[in-house]
Amino acid sequence: MESKMKIIGGTPLKGRVLAQGAKNAALPVMAAAILLKGEKLTINRVPNLLDVVTMADLLRSLGASVQFKDQKMEISTPLDISWETPPDLVRKMRASSLVLGPLLARCGKAVMPLPGGCSIGSRPIDLHLKGLTRMGASIELVHGAVHAQAGVLKGCRIYLDFPSVGATENLMMAAVFARGETILENTAREPEIFNLVDALRSMGAIIEADGTGVIRIQGVEGLKSSSANIIPDRVEASTYILAGAATNGEVTVANIIPNHIDSLLAKLEEAGALLSVSDTEVTIYPSGRLKSVSLKTLPYPGFPTDLQPQVMAALCLAEGTSVVQESVFQSRFLHVSELNKMGARIDIQSNSAIINGVESLAGADVLATDLRAGAALIIAGLAARDTTCVHNLGHIFRGYEKLEDKLRAIGANISILPSEEDVKGVSELPRS
Ligand code: EPZ
Repeated sequence: MESKMKIIGGTPLKGRVLAQGAKNAALPVMAAAILLKGEKLTINRVPNLLDVVTMADLLRSLGASVQFKDQKMEISTPLDISWETPPDLVRKMRASSLVLGPLLARCGKAVMPLPGGCSIGSRPIDLHLKGLTRMGASIELVHGAVHAQAGVLKGCRIYLDFPSVGATENLMMAAVFARGETILENTAREPEIFNLVDALRSMGAIIEADGTGVIRIQGVEGLKSSSANIIPDRVEASTYILAGAATNGEVTVANIIPNHIDSLLAKLEEAGALLSVSDTEVTIYPSGRLKSVSLKTLPYPGFPTDLQPQVMAALCLAEGTSVVQESVFQSRFLHVSELNKMGARIDIQSNSAIINGVESLAGADVLATDLRAGAALIIAGLAARDTTCVHNLGHIFRGYEKLEDKLRAIGANISILPSEEDVKGVSELPRS
């Protein structure tokens, strides 16, 4: 049964939040455990999220054993595992495609349903498959599933047409046992990529990644038990900072790596926000109404697409007209119509949103279409002057650990209720 969040808005948030471990680092590191044969990977600071549970269930379905308690996860894989992924789990979460590379590397074959599109775009995996083919895999699409055969993959040079996060991660893991050296070029440079590199290195992989978008992997015979630490979740942390900005509050987010969110901090300062930044935390202070700014989402270190909905919610109340251009995903503007229901004045022109700032937002019943759009609607509800209900919270619980506790700890007046009716609409699409 879906649930909804009832928010009584209008109160400046005040307090301190500890960032969770990064969802988008934990998922690929969990998938990397497939590369171990009869060994164990211990992962620290794993966030307790719906997507993490889905990935754990997927690994169990392949034959791994997964223990998960108090942010610590232990994944042991037997000498033999299955290479066929269960369609129901893969369709639940796109990040399931991250098991393709490790399965091919370890088993020489893999069968995986094509992950569907979702509310933010079609999200194909053509770059993943193109790279694996260059490494010698034969790939067939049979009834909407990828059937891959590889034998032993061979090291080669692969240029990514786009610095895809998932393709970078899948190809890096596929290359760990390949014959010879694999050079990946034009790779993603998100912090989560380097978290995976560190985890693979700790297991014995030979990888060079200097942050320039080139990653070199020397094939090895096998990997060994190890432990890995997950970096702080820069997107979750930024969401709480933006909630502080939108409510003109004072919010500290601790246990983070501030330089992972440089692009956001620079934009907030440009908008007139008052910030203090230490080695491990950021505080935003009341600074009155933000000034309008313009931005374009880009692969890291550019402004992250995963913060685009949340920053838009804050800019709805800024003075002047802001322009937000989405260059990473095809259609990541489904939150715009929901924000406009709350009195925002946003027009979409091609892949840009023109946001005419308003003095205040009004509460409304709104629909979360993916986890970041849902986070944006919560931010808008916290800033609005009366009651907002955000439906389809399931999306949000995928990426935000202890959401209710953390929001209440900074003064949010919220309650989680069962949705009287499942709100039909775009939320019927598979999850991103
Ligand atoms: C990762 O998704 C994140 N998910 C996404 O976060 C994030 O939005 C995205 O990277 C971009 O930063 C995880 O890490 C689990 P991409 P991923 O491959 O790997 C196109 C969240 O909210 N593309 O970098 O799927 C694709 O369609 C989620 O936590 C191809 O065309 O992203 C998109 O337009 C949402 N062909 C663009 O590239 C491919 O083979 C970026 O995709 C692969 C990607």
